[in-house]
Amino acid sequence: MLKRLILSLFFAGNVLLSVADGFRFNHGPYLQNLSSNEVTLFFTTSSRAFSWVEVKGDGWEKTRCFYTVNDGLVQAYNTQNEIKITGLEPGREYRYRLIAKEMKQFHPYKIIYGDSIASQWESFTTVPEKMDSCSFVIINDGHDDARKVARLLGCSQLEKADAVIYLGDMTSHIDNVDVPYKGFIDVSVDMFARNKPFIAVRGNHETRGNMGRSYGNYVARPNGRFFNIFYYGETAIIVLDTGEDKPDTHPVYGGINRFDDYRREQARWLEQEVKSKRFRKTRNRIVLMHIPPILPREDNSPEGHAIKELSKLFVPIFNKAKIDLVLSGHMHRHYVVNAHPDANHFPIVINDNKSVVDLKSGKEGIKVKITNENGSTNDIIF
Ligand SMILES: [Fe+2]
Repeated sequence: MLKRLILSLFFAGNVLLSVADGFRFNHGPYLQNLSSNEVTLFFTTSSRAFSWVEVKGDGWEKTRCFYTVNDGLVQAYNTQNEIKITGLEPGREYRYRLIAKEMKQFHPYKIIYGDSIASQWESFTTVPEKMDSCSFVIINDGHDDARKVARLLGCSQLEKADAVIYLGDMTSHIDNVDVPYKGFIDVSVDMFARNKPFIAVRGNHETRGNMGRSYGNYVARPNGRFFNIFYYGETAIIVLDTGEDKPDTHPVYGGINRFDDYRREQARWLEQEVKSKRFRKTRNRIVLMHIPPILPREDNSPEGHAIKELSKLFVPIFNKAKIDLVLSGHMHRHYVVNAHPDANHFPIVINDNKSVVDLKSGKEGIKVKITNENGSTNDIIF
């Protein structure tokens, strides 16, 4: 009775605002895959529900509702949601809120709903078609340490950034549904992700654990894959999924990894992608890959396998495609591999596991600022 009384205080229109206990939104919303004309919203409900997103845009006669529909069925009786908002215009601000109806019972011929809840209204701005410059905040190798992620975001130019990039190994392994939320997603929602997207580059540790295969339920996979290309004005951002570090045949993988083939598939895709008119017209070309394609020293241990494969497969493509900069993590140490006419024609910046990178790309080139947890900085201009 008391609970019902408290809930009624939050009554807004014909739905209840989400409250701390009872049926509620418990993770998100967070923006993924924001482009000039669409965005995908991720969020969860505390119990099984039918959920959707309401969106308002300037000049729209009324609020539009977006659902996930598969094969004629609206996604429902689920808790993890991934809802794509389409038909947007470049460089425009939109407002949105989540709605969910709890599904108490789901019989073949009768559905019994419980409470309906709504989130607060939030906003986002689509990527403009023309941009003089773009900027990103980059963090890698957080390894489940959400407090460190918060500290590093606090040392960054988060306010000015178009997106945050998590460059892999934000978790150590996934063996529980809460791991990605606790490790980096909830802190992102608190600090920016309701209004500004993050791009998650998969690291080798996100492939580990008995729930590693569910990582795509937490982060967007545009076109259904973890490798892709994003455009921000005159800047192309290539995202690669470098897979595991050791050979597929290593005993710790138990015979169920096929990353050598997967890296070759990505090389074939990239070879075609860089021939596109859009890419060839792009001024600045940046690659994000968790494991670097070259190290200043050779690593002949099993852990060095992926680096050798990446070097062989991708460095010739990067050279031909005139890549300006490769950004990596994985090593937990800071390295800069300078461009060399007989090897990599592009510099490689490897960020350590206790610094944040502010990257700005524009007419004047690419500027990288690295700030460690103590606030000391290092500027590199390419
Ligand atoms: Fe790693």
